[in-house]
Amino acid sequence: MTVKGKRILLGLTGGIAAYKAAELARALGRAGCDVRVAMTEAATRFITPVTLQALTGQAVWTDLWDPRVADNMSHIELSRDRDLILVAPASADFMAKAAQGLADDLLTTLVLARRCPLMVAPAMNVEMWDNPATQRNLRTLRADGVVFAGPAAGDQACGETGMGRMLEPAAIVAEVEALFQPKSLAGKRVLVTAGPTEERIDPVRVITNTSSGKMGYAVARAAREAGAEVTLVSGPVALEAPAGVARVSVRSAQQMFDAVKAAVKGSDIFISVAAVADWKVKNSSRQKIKKANGRAPALQFEENPDILAWVAAQKDAPFCVGFAAESEKVEAHARAKRLKKGVPLIAANLAQTAMGADDNALTLYDDRGRHPLGRGPKLDQARKLVAHFAAMLNKAR
Ligand code: C5P
Repeated sequence: MTVKGKRILLGLTGGIAAYKAAELARALGRAGCDVRVAMTEAATRFITPVTLQALTGQAVWTDLWDPRVADNMSHIELSRDRDLILVAPASADFMAKAAQGLADDLLTTLVLARRCPLMVAPAMNVEMWDNPATQRNLRTLRADGVVFAGPAAGDQACGETGMGRMLEPAAIVAEVEALFQPKSLAGKRVLVTAGPTEERIDPVRVITNTSSGKMGYAVARAAREAGAEVTLVSGPVALEAPAGVARVSVRSAQQMFDAVKAAVKGSDIFISVAAVADWKVKNSSRQKIKKANGRAPALQFEENPDILAWVAAQKDAPFCVGFAAESEKVEAHARAKRLKKGVPLIAANLAQTAMGADDNALTLYDDRGRHPLGRGPKLDQARKLVAHFAAMLNKAR
């Protein structure tokens, strides 16, 4: 599900990160959202309402007593038709007021009068964030069902470093998208493998493959967005773990197998996206192999454990989803693999175009046949995959 057509009230409070809210308003607009803006008086000291008005094409609201709204009921009118109130940047003062239910300006009044969810993207100095009062307010707001986007750690405008930086606009849009995903996996525990594995030849050389981990990470994120508790066992990749996902980093297929064995107990769903090496080097060397007068080293191989087949064969196995990356005869190989590994669902793709790319075109195979997902960004493909197996699981109940 996209955020197209979602009606968002973007609230700005006083903080230097308010300049990023201009980019955020544009990004939300580009994603198809209908954006209205309310600013506190302090926010208007950092960025002018005219900027936000020009970017959203809508009047900007700053005053509880705005004469444009009849009966001074702007706090009701402005929040009523909204699907979300997003406060970015949210100051420590805003969090304190919202936690207490104070309503002494337009934005806090809108927040108190809302019927829709509230998402807060904090932005403040590290000491203000760490202050026990702010942390207490954070806990209170979370307990009240408020969703937090960030903050992140890093350099701050005041010259200090630490927690309190507002998330970048693109990351906030991603959190908004996540919020609107159907919670089809609520209460489920999901285990995902992702990325390549590395098989050692000697202390400096490995055999690996071109898997980037992007598909597996997208699947982990989509499962998390759908409300699952997600563990991601990842081979060596240069990707950040998706927010709220517990990552276990491994290198070799054997390490991946061990990590899966340790984590699979209690999992409801296992999604095996990793490109696991089929073979490991039996005679790997403890020392760096030296050149030997033009003679190639004689590597011997032994088979790695098939992690997916092992999980699928367990008593009380979780619902298993396999992947098949094939360079030819994708359908025939995928169908055969589904039966051989004993899994209810296989997601197949053409290795040449899928591996390393940002887009994919998955086709799902289950006992009802073939389900092409079309082509699109890996996160969209992952969301469709999650929707597919969540429906299979719900039917099986
Ligand atoms: O047999 P093949 O490697 O083509 O199967 C692909 C599927 O099996 C993927 O889901 C992959 O993660 C999984 N697999 C595995 N352990 C292996 C090999 C593949 O879990 N050793």
